[in-house]
Amino acid sequence: MTIDKQLVWVRDPNEGFVLARLHELMGEEADIIPIDNKHQRRVCSFEDIFPAGEPNKDVNDNCELMFLNEATLLNNILTRYSKNKIYTYVANILLAVNPYEDIRDLYSSSTIKNYQGRSLGELPPHVFAIADKAFRDMKSLKQSQSIIVSGESGAGKTESTKYILKYLCDLWAKGAGPVEQKILDANPILEAFGNAKTTRNNNSSRFGKFMEVHFNNKYQVVGGYISHYLLEKSRICTQSAEERNYHVFYLLCAGAPPELRAQLKLTKPDDYAYLKNGCTQYFTTPASEKKLNSSQKSKQQQAKGGLRDPILDDVEDFQRLHQALSRVGLSEEEKAGVYRVVAGVLHLGNVEFEDDDGSRGGCVPRDRCLPSLQAAADLLAVDAAELRRALVARLLQSARGNKGTAIMVPLKTYEATNARDALAKSVYSRLFDYIVNRINLSIPFQASAYYIGVLDIAGFEYFQMNSFEQFCINYCNEKLQQFFNERILKNEQELYKKEGLNVPEIRFVDNQDCIDLIESKNHGIFHLLDEESKLPKPEFGHFTHSVHKELGTNNPRLQLPRSSRLKAHRTLRDDEGFLLRHFAGAVCYNTNQFIEKNNDALHASLEFLIQESNSPLVKQLFQNVDNNNAKGKLNFISVGAKFQSQLSQLMEKLKQNGTNFVRCIKPNSAMCRRAAEGALVLAQLQCSGTAAVLLLMEHGYPSRAPFAHLHRVYAPHLPPRLAALQPKLFSEAIVHSLGLSDKDYKFGITRVFFRPGKYSEFDTIMRSEPENLKKIVERVLKWIIKSRWRRSIFAVLSIIKLKNKILYRRQCLITIQKTIRGHLVRKQHRPRYQAIMKIKALNANLKDMETTTAQLKKEKESAQKNIENLRTAINSACVTIKSNEKISRSEVDQIYTKLTKDVEAQMAALQKAMVDQKNREEQERLRKIEAEIRAAEEQKRQELEKIKQEEENRRLKVEMETRRKAEELERLRQEEQDRLSAQKMQKQLEEAARAEQEDRERLEQERRDHEMAVRLAKETNGHVEGSPPQLRSFPTMDSMNGENKLNRSERVRMQQAIQGKQKYDLSKWKYSELRDTINTSCDIELLEACRHEFHRRLKVYHAWKAKNARKTTMAEQERAPQSIMEAAAKTPRVTQKGEILGARHRYFRIPFVRPAGGGDPVEADRRGWWYAHFDGQYVARQMELHPDKTPVLLQAGVDDMQMCELSLEETGLTRKRGAEILEHEFEREWSRHGGATYLPPDLRKR
Ligand SMILES: Nc1ncnc2c1ncn2[C@@H]1O[C@H](COP(=O)(O)OP(=O)(O)O)[C@@H](O)[C@H]1O
Ligand SMILES: [Mg+2]
Repeated sequence: MTIDKQLVWVRDPNEGFVLARLHELMGEEADIIPIDNKHQRRVCSFEDIFPAGEPNKDVNDNCELMFLNEATLLNNILTRYSKNKIYTYVANILLAVNPYEDIRDLYSSSTIKNYQGRSLGELPPHVFAIADKAFRDMKSLKQSQSIIVSGESGAGKTESTKYILKYLCDLWAKGAGPVEQKILDANPILEAFGNAKTTRNNNSSRFGKFMEVHFNNKYQVVGGYISHYLLEKSRICTQSAEERNYHVFYLLCAGAPPELRAQLKLTKPDDYAYLKNGCTQYFTTPASEKKLNSSQKSKQQQAKGGLRDPILDDVEDFQRLHQALSRVGLSEEEKAGVYRVVAGVLHLGNVEFEDDDGSRGGCVPRDRCLPSLQAAADLLAVDAAELRRALVARLLQSARGNKGTAIMVPLKTYEATNARDALAKSVYSRLFDYIVNRINLSIPFQASAYYIGVLDIAGFEYFQMNSFEQFCINYCNEKLQQFFNERILKNEQELYKKEGLNVPEIRFVDNQDCIDLIESKNHGIFHLLDEESKLPKPEFGHFTHSVHKELGTNNPRLQLPRSSRLKAHRTLRDDEGFLLRHFAGAVCYNTNQFIEKNNDALHASLEFLIQESNSPLVKQLFQNVDNNNAKGKLNFISVGAKFQSQLSQLMEKLKQNGTNFVRCIKPNSAMCRRAAEGALVLAQLQCSGTAAVLLLMEHGYPSRAPFAHLHRVYAPHLPPRLAALQPKLFSEAIVHSLGLSDKDYKFGITRVFFRPGKYSEFDTIMRSEPENLKKIVERVLKWIIKSRWRRSIFAVLSIIKLKNKILYRRQCLITIQKTIRGHLVRKQHRPRYQAIMKIKALNANLKDMETTTAQLKKEKESAQKNIENLRTAINSACVTIKSNEKISRSEVDQIYTKLTKDVEAQMAALQKAMVDQKNREEQERLRKIEAEIRAAEEQKRQELEKIKQEEENRRLKVEMETRRKAEELERLRQEEQDRLSAQKMQKQLEEAARAEQEDRERLEQERRDHEMAVRLAKETNGHVEGSPPQLRSFPTMDSMNGENKLNRSERVRMQQAIQGKQKYDLSKWKYSELRDTINTSCDIELLEACRHEFHRRLKVYHAWKAKNARKTTMAEQERAPQSIMEAAAKTPRVTQKGEILGARHRYFRIPFVRPAGGGDPVEADRRGWWYAHFDGQYVARQMELHPDKTPVLLQAGVDDMQMCELSLEETGLTRKRGAEILEHEFEREWSRHGGATYLPPDLRKR
């Protein structure tokens, strides 16, 4: 077997990921054997497999991992968690896993001191480091900062917030001053009134808060401010069985001194309708349990004892609350007033109603509840009889007619009950507002320059029943997620682009559509809800119906409850709820309380009554609040609208500030120490967008500093010579001379960027001892000299190069001119000199004549004279032609013809004379002469012929040229057409890719919905229907033949089989079986089919490897020169034609350039040769000849993993000019480098 046995992580529904080894390649999937045999062997998609690197090593910053992916992220966090290292960075984001136990010294004063003033990354990750970063950023950027703490309920947000505040208020561990102490005191008070035990967290904050710590321009704490959001009101009246009401009720029952309890008439939780349906146990410690007497204990408490939590103790916490209230400035009297209101709410809850037989359909309080009514009235300081009246009847001011006419409309039993609950909620929530306000007033506040705000707000929530509260909080989380995406992903990428850093783009899911769906001005869900409330008879069914009708059509985000994966949701009718797909998963909202919860106004009679209370505190609670009753129905301000405006103010603040993120993670749902559920943690990482950040950081540079900033900060440490440099040169000089690796930083246009953790390394070096600094200064000076020297050398070389280029061009110009001039002159004079040559050729005839003449016996002189005349004529003709440049061709021809004629005539005369002379005796010779003449004629004819031929050729050339031009035009047109169709094709491909991406995102979302549903089902013993989406299917070996195994690749394969009418279905074959068949079979068709399948799997495998390649060593792992891999990537993947190419051997050779490490330009040019021998469609042997390394020789059947897996067609080699070589050329190189003799596949033995 030749598969590399590297460790991989494979996705698992329970553990998140399990460690395994690749066993078989199965096309688009792989057969995987987990290391731990308690996990099943499985076949899964390459999308679910990730290289593992070193699974036992953990790093402070996830970006330092060798392989960056979800799996290594999860493993790193869990490995650290098991070693009690609860904090980890992803670049600048802090991940905090809830330890559920106190870790020694983690938050001690000495730890605070350690983190002060240290760059992020210098010390192990910590919330203190984030707090310190915010503080330093505030100072150096002169900008207020936010720290956004997010996570599920129970993930540790509130605790982290407390530590951050402690750090900020306790800077330099001096201990907190008076202002700081007040800010810290706020927490126990807020928690007593705003926290409660839920199934997910014993101390769950049921409100959101943004706590600002204000600093003056000397960066001293001068004040604070708390904004709070969305206190959960329904909890005041009801809780589910395992949960409790707000802590303060139990604190009073358990911890208040007996006199106070007597005053407030408080006994045990069982006695109050607002407490008795939930959990009625107190949080105690063994010691505090003893302080309780039996009249304080509920039945549950007596049976089961107290609840335990490391930070909660209802008995002792009362004292803490009491003292903290004093410290924020409440007098004894005011505190008593607060307790009375709290107790008043409890007694009010005990007032029950029954139908009143006497009146028209009204109701009265039950007799046995009258003491409670009296107690409530006393505690709230209103008249009991009036309270009774206001609870059972509603004041109606007639809209028309005489103003001021008021009628009392009796209420039905359930209406009175609702009015009572509304009063309780209103009183309690206003009390909460009052307390926050008192805290704010108590914190002295001078003009502040900047602040650091810490946001602790409930994370994304989903229960079996989700109502208006969850809707609001999940809307808030959508906004925060969008803000996170923008800050971290969008802005970061824009900056890289602007600064010219070449970092690949990362996609993230944009949730704007979901936000629009909720908040859009004229048709969002909030808007529809407010519209419904304005109708004369608002009705939740009608509201739900309009949500579905106006927003639900064709909206993947909004669906009917019956499309939920949870059975409990599917029982809801269409008009009872809606399913909203949030970024973190789908949540089904039950709408039946939406309308009531959206309106917190009391009915008028109650409001008037309570405003007239004799208690100054109660009176104050109901002063100057939005009086919805006065505004009337059409103008009322709904809870949703108030929250929307609060949230948009908050978002505005966040946008103006610098941001720091802390992502809290809940390790298990049992809330116990040292236990982690992988899948739960993974789901939270995915929801929080951390995985996407990781992708970005794989190539990104999270730390950066503008040149000017570096100059400002470090110049003072350095000698004036360096300090005087321009910021840019200054930054370059110091960064370059510190000996950081090139990969760790990049220069943008205005700033330097650092890889994770490297800025702090840099900072540490720069702030080191003077000794060390001296060495650095030396190095910087050297670097500057070197860089100046290099720059001038470079300039000189460039100028020389330029000069040479100019000279060369001049030379070329002269040659061009010379040639053209010569050509023109020759063309102009050609007829003349050709004529002269021809005419001169006549001289030869004259010579003949002269010889003839010499033999003449008579008339010799005259003949000689004639010849002499002819010669003169010839010469003068030549002179004429030579001297007359403008002579025309026909004139020349005339002269020539005339001369020829004369010569011929003379010749004839001579001949005649010779005939006469040697009539008989010279018969032979005469004939000879005649023959000669004929030959001369023949020559002349041939010459004419030649001239004609030349002309013909010229004509043909011209014709050819025009044809070529026409073809050229045609070719251009064709190319244009090809380009257009290629564009069209490209568009289609992109379209398809986008569709696939969308498909993937949809599946991802569905998977998340499913996982969420499973979690919920586990918690509630509910039932989930439907199988998980197929993207992440986990078929086991047994189910491989089952029908649900018909996944994507299988379908593709079937289709291929049908299309290609393939004889063999090899998809179920093992990789090793394929290998063996190739090596042993004699069935050529089978053999060929096996080779196709074998190489197809290799291709998928290599694609996966390339996607998950190590960050550093890319070029090393090539199996063929880059040009070939690129060509293959461009050619569409054709299914093999199934044509059997048998033993067609072809040989190729191409050069390659392998980039050398280090990026040194001199070394970069490493050329080598790559040889390949294809026997059929695939490589049988391949060979790399390197200039500086031993050659690499590879053979199919032995080295498949390292060899080029592409088919001949895909490599494009046959289309490369000059690439194909002859067999002996290949064999010569092969044997020269010691290659073994080639064996055809059927002879290869394993
Ligand atoms: N850093 C920590 N160290 C020890 N225990 C912690 C830490 N963070 C959270 N916890 C425990 O987890 C519980 C829930 O944390 P909390 O901050 O209230 O969660 P959240 O505000 O996210 O709902 C706390 O009551 C505490 O017991
Ligand atoms: Mg909390």
